[in-house]
Parts: sequence; C-alpha cells; structure tokens
Amino acid sequence: MAFEIKATGRAIPQRRVSNKELAQKIDTSDEWIWSHTGIRARHIASADTAASDLGFEAAWNVLEMAVEQGVCMEKTPEELAHTLDMIVVATTTPDFYGCPSTACLIQNRLHAKNAGAMDVSAACSGFIYGLETAAGILGTGKGRKRCLVIGCEILSRFIDWNDRGTCVLFGDGAGAVLLEKTDATDIRGLLKTILRADGTGSENLIIKKGGSRNAYRAGDVFEFASFIEMNGHAVYNFAVGAVTEIIRDLLKTENISVDELRWIVPHQANARIVQAAAKRLGFPPEKFFLNIEEYANTSSASIPIALDELNRGGYLKKGDMILCVGFGAGLTYGGNLIVW
Ligand code: UT7
Repeated sequence: MAFEIKATGRAIPQRRVSNKELAQKIDTSDEWIWSHTGIRARHIASADTAASDLGFEAAWNVLEMAVEQGVCMEKTPEELAHTLDMIVVATTTPDFYGCPSTACLIQNRLHAKNAGAMDVSAACSGFIYGLETAAGILGTGKGRKRCLVIGCEILSRFIDWNDRGTCVLFGDGAGAVLLEKTDATDIRGLLKTILRADGTGSENLIIKKGGSRNAYRAGDVFEFASFIEMNGHAVYNFAVGAVTEIIRDLLKTENISVDELRWIVPHQANARIVQAAAKRLGFPPEKFFLNIEEYANTSSASIPIALDELNRGGYLKKGDMILCVGFGAGLTYGGNLIVW
C-alpha cells in the first residue's frame, strides 16, 4: 500500500502588489524587504474572495490535471469529485471562525457528495499535518481511496497594514494535491512524516482577537480588525532550528543522504531562514526550492503552491524523492518525505 500524490493545483489572486507599490503606502523599501526576506511581491485577493474560494479553485485545478493526465478512470472533474472520500483543508484564515469548516464549504462547491470534510489547524505547518492526516484517514478506512489536501489562505485580511514588521511578509493563495491510496509495493508516495510542536512559543505568532479567550462582545468598538502579531526574532530563531532539526531527523530515520533528495521544499516564510538552515546543515542552497520572491508567505498554502509549480514546470519526475518542511504558529513544525 502507498499514498501517492497523483495531481497538483494552485490558485493565485490576480492582483500583484510589488514591494515598490507597498513602499508608496508605508515606510519601507524594495531594498529592505528583498534583502531581509527575499520577497519582491505578493498576491492579494479581492475583497469578495474568501479562503474557500481560493481553496475551491486550487482543488478544481487538481481534478482537471488528474483527468487531463489520465491518472484516473474518470473522464471529467465532476466525476472525479464524486469519488473523493475525504477533503482535508489546512487554513489559518478560514471563511468562518469555529464553524462551518472551510473544508465543508469546498466539499459543497465540488459536489463531492461522498466525501467527509475537515479543517486542520496547524498554521504554516498545516499542509504537512494535513498530508499525514489524509494518509492516516485513507490508511485506516477500508473502502477509502482518494483525498484532496488543500492549503488556502487570505492572510491579507488579518494583517495590520500599518505594521511594516509584518505586513510586507504575507500574501494570499491556495495549493492542493490529490492523495490516492494505491496497491504499489515499491517505495513510493508518502514515506515518512514527522510532526512536532512547541506550545511554549504560542504567543510569538498569534491572532489574539475573536476566539473564546478574547471573544467579540456586544457593544465592542474596534479601531482595528483582528490581525497577526509576531515576535519576528523569536520566530526566526525557532524556524532555523526547526527546519534544520526536521531535515536532519527525517534523513536519519530513513537512512537517506541529501544527495538522494531531488528537492527540499520548505515553507516559504523568509529566504534567509532557508539559507541559514542550509548553511547549518552544510547542504547546497540549490537543493531548496524557493518561490517566495513572487508570493511572499502564504502560510499553509506555500508548500502545495511550490509543489504545483515544480510539478507543472516539469521539475519533478516519477521516482524523485522530495522533502517538504514546514513551521509556523503554535508553534508547530514538521516534514514529509515523499517519493513522487
Ligand atoms: O510563517 C512563519 C512566520 N514568520 C516568520 O517566519 C518570520 C520570522 N522572522 C523574520 O523573518 C524576520 O525577523 C523579519 C523579516 C520579520 C524581520 O527581519 P529582521 O532582520 O529580524 O529585522 P528587525 O526586526 O531586526 O528590524 C531591523 C530594522 C528595525 O529598525 P531599527 O530599529 O534597526 O532602526 C526595524 O524597525 O528594520 C526595521 N524594519 C523595517 N524597515 C523597513 C522592520 N520592518 C521593516 C520594513 N521596512 N518592512
């Protein structure tokens, strides 16, 4: 039995906001953002778009690819959607807090009437957690075969646009994959996952307003909407350590050398985090796939967007081994080792 990624997809809002455009509105510069983060632009969703809209678009993109490439017997995305057993959505910016889940909203739009649907809350590590959750669900259910795993975010709506320390970092987007349980007996698909957390750092990256700890109450008047607050230095240090630890541990437990990896696909939060981890590990920086320049940090969407870019760009072939590594609020971190 194997859990293989059969198709990928993504949804990127059309509106591209360059560093230069941001610098016209807040006290920052293209030079600062580029040199401190590796970001040149981010894509921002229109006011009437929610996370499920981008998630649905990415999911549809996946189903179209699966049908076009003939990786399933079904002839249309609609038919394929009917065969889905599960939809797992990783998001930090759900359409609604609490309920309903964003996964249910996407399930409805896909008419995936045979699928269960649930959200995973692990912030920027959400896709890593989601993929393992999906494999677990498929693995324990006898009749279950197919699961969509989606990361979708509208971070632009949870940003204090007056805080230059955070607002330059984030963007909107969605990525998705079709995970299928197959009879393959050779080494293929999701080989190994590590999931870790360090809740002592929960205050270092937080949206304080709106939950049961700090609920909105009748009569409240707000000058600002809820937004992400971050201790940049603490998160940076944690991230470099987390990326290093996960890569080292995944390779060690599976007895794999870095030369056997085609790509390391890290969460795209800051190119400097990746460069520092590469240096600590003594790995060539070219092993790490980076697209943060164009999209900035899209949280749970960043890894599946990167996978789709690699896949559609022809940079992945069957049998390639890749390592995805994520980290984020919680604090959470983890990695998936995958044979394409
Ligand atoms: O998904 C996971 C979530 N987040 C992360 O992984 C982020 C982790 N942290 C980081 O990536 C970095 O800490 C940041 C990019 C957020 C900040 O970079 P830094 O090199 O640690 O900068 P800093 O906070 O030490 O700030 C240096 C200077 C300060 O000015 P002074 O006090 O030295 O005069 C800041 O006020 O840069 C200033 N600064 C800016 N200047 C221009 C901070 N943000 C900006 C900005 N434009 N956007």
